[in-house]
Amino acid sequence: PPQTPQTPTDNPAATRSRASITARTLRTDRWWVPPLLTTLGLAAFVIYATVRSFMRTGYYDAEQHYLTPFYSPCLSDSCVAGSAHFGTPIGELPGFIPLAFLSLPFLLGFRLTCYYYRKAYYRSIWFSPPACAVAEPHAKYTGETRLPLIVQNAHRYFFYAAFVIALINTYDAILAFGGENGVGFGLGNVVLLVNVVLLWAYTLSCHSCRHVTGGRMKHFSKNPVRYWIWTQVSRLNVRHMQFAWITLATLALTDLYVWLVSTDVITDLRFIN
Ligand code: FES
Repeated sequence: PPQTPQTPTDNPAATRSRASITARTLRTDRWWVPPLLTTLGLAAFVIYATVRSFMRTGYYDAEQHYLTPFYSPCLSDSCVAGSAHFGTPIGELPGFIPLAFLSLPFLLGFRLTCYYYRKAYYRSIWFSPPACAVAEPHAKYTGETRLPLIVQNAHRYFFYAAFVIALINTYDAILAFGGENGVGFGLGNVVLLVNVVLLWAYTLSCHSCRHVTGGRMKHFSKNPVRYWIWTQVSRLNVRHMQFAWITLATLALTDLYVWLVSTDVITDLRFIN
């Protein structure tokens, strides 16, 4: 028989927003481990990336032409010779401005507004809520409907910027095949290449990219090319969280490798030339 919808008076639970349990949680497992690990992982990357972005040393290997993604694109007269792949339209930059000041804010914005990272830091840092069945400390919830969180809706625009920056990083990785002694191939090329492939995987698996490729389409059958692209993006999209974490690691490791090679702490392993 058809069910009559319940009114709040029929259903006492509907009149309350939360169960009246005084304990913060009745969970007995170690629910706090994932949020804690998330916080530590994000903090480690943010500290490393911030320090490196302001260091202004060890970002370009003049011999093998390796440029770390943290300094790309380098567009000012302050960039070391050879590292400015797009010329130096900007004059000298004071030391408190990172040399990649044009790309870093967009990359930061892209990651901060990413659907996965939002979930991660809403839970682990903002405790909204910290975990399933664990009460949050905030008295009210306004979601992403007002400042500052309404800015999260700008994610799609950050996606466009990140797409361009991924193209620039790809160009940097290609240029790195031509070092001081001509065309060559070393471990640094593998590192830069792997980093760029994974950056593409992260960027293309973005939820906004999925919408750009297949959103608002009424008939998949009438748009076979877009449908095919959307299907591939959707496949990547399933692994978006993994790519989010893997690319944090590969970005830091790529930077570390360029840093160590360019300061002669280690020697680049050469396979050709
Ligand atoms: Fe994560 Fe767009 S980058 S959803």
